[in-house]
Amino acid sequence: MIKKNNIKNNLSSFKAKDLTGIITPPPDKSISHRALLFSSLALGKSAISNMLDSADVLNMVKALKALGVKIINKNNVYYVIGVGLNGFSTPNQYIDCGNSGTLARILLGAIGGSKIFATFSGDTSLSSRPMDRVIKPLKKMGIYFDSINNKLPLIIKGSSDILPIKYTSPISSAQVKTTILLAGLNARGTTEIIEPYSSRNHSENLLKYYGADIKYNTKKLGKNVISITGGVTLKSRNLTVPGDISSAAFALVAATIIPGSSIKVLNVGINYFRSGILEALNLMGARITLENKVINNYEEPLANIVVKYSKLKGVNLDSSFSARMIDEYPILAIAAAVASGTTRLCGLAELRHKESDRFMAIINGLVSCGIKVEYKKDDIIIYGNREVSGGVTIDCNFDHRIAMSFIILGAVSLKPIKVIGCKSIATSYPTFISEMNEIGMDIRIKD
Ligand code: S3P
Repeated sequence: MIKKNNIKNNLSSFKAKDLTGIITPPPDKSISHRALLFSSLALGKSAISNMLDSADVLNMVKALKALGVKIINKNNVYYVIGVGLNGFSTPNQYIDCGNSGTLARILLGAIGGSKIFATFSGDTSLSSRPMDRVIKPLKKMGIYFDSINNKLPLIIKGSSDILPIKYTSPISSAQVKTTILLAGLNARGTTEIIEPYSSRNHSENLLKYYGADIKYNTKKLGKNVISITGGVTLKSRNLTVPGDISSAAFALVAATIIPGSSIKVLNVGINYFRSGILEALNLMGARITLENKVINNYEEPLANIVVKYSKLKGVNLDSSFSARMIDEYPILAIAAAVASGTTRLCGLAELRHKESDRFMAIINGLVSCGIKVEYKKDDIIIYGNREVSGGVTIDCNFDHRIAMSFIILGAVSLKPIKVIGCKSIATSYPTFISEMNEIGMDIRIKD
């Protein structure tokens, strides 16, 4: 029996019978981070309900408190007393970003307009991830950084004279876009960001809700353009965080590939720029239907998702999908592994810069389980096979999504799959193991 919120590091996933029941995925991680941070930048008291209580988000709470923000958790509602656009104070300790790239990257732009010093650190994985993508534009805006090779640990010194910039980002990244927008809140004038494909737009929806002067959903020569004009005070807000589609994706794929399954996943955020996974699974022949669709007060759509087992076929996904399901490729690759025919996943360069090198983790993990996989430059080609041998140990390199993906594959493999590094799952989905076992999976502790 695995207790809720108590994930052991080594787990084995055994063949599962049909999955049945109803589950509620954890609250959205991206929106939880932003709700806390944007409430800190507002004036007044905001209330956030259904906040994700995971390691990554709790590190955001700690970081904001160290920067002088008052945050109280009362009866599972987080109350945040904002300090205003440039009211952060110099922390007397390191800002420990743990495993979270979102925390590190979006907080830099947010505090860049306050005249303070701070040192950011992270765990081994985060300390090897690129920060130049945010340091470069933020330096142009007048914020000072000191680091070795543009990685953590780093020192940031904020400025009271933030310059508006026009920045064309070489990658579609919501973290890059968000940090520039947050720095732009303090700029004298209008900051414009152009990204190749639109990445998730939660920041835009929320900034508008908090009262920022922001324009988005505009296309110029096929690219996504967002602009924000600085100097406008954000107002405190009350909001509820929707369920996380990136976490729900594990149950959706599990029910799709385990014969006889039929489950309902409640309250899932289905923002267009996050829901590429639903489209991809539908193209593969999955039986997924949406029920009770609503749009919340900050323009995020939500629905219940019903999914039933179905025989999948391979699919070709071009790079236009990648920004809309960047975190779902590991679990989609599991679906592709048991589909009939070939799946081509294109334009996956960004997967090399996640919590681990997910590009290689997908390939090496699947190959060790007996699946034929090839890669060409930034594309992965998976030759699906309904007979997955399994019987292997996979070290997820402390990457939560790799861990959860191979646990799901274990449920349809001939022999169990053991995964090492499962404590990482607590960064996004602390109740994953107990909830998946409750609907019929067979995940056991193996030390
Ligand atoms: C996130 C954006 C994505 C995603 C990450 C969360 C966010 O990263 O992979 O898990 O909340 O902004 P990039 O912005 O680097 O694509």
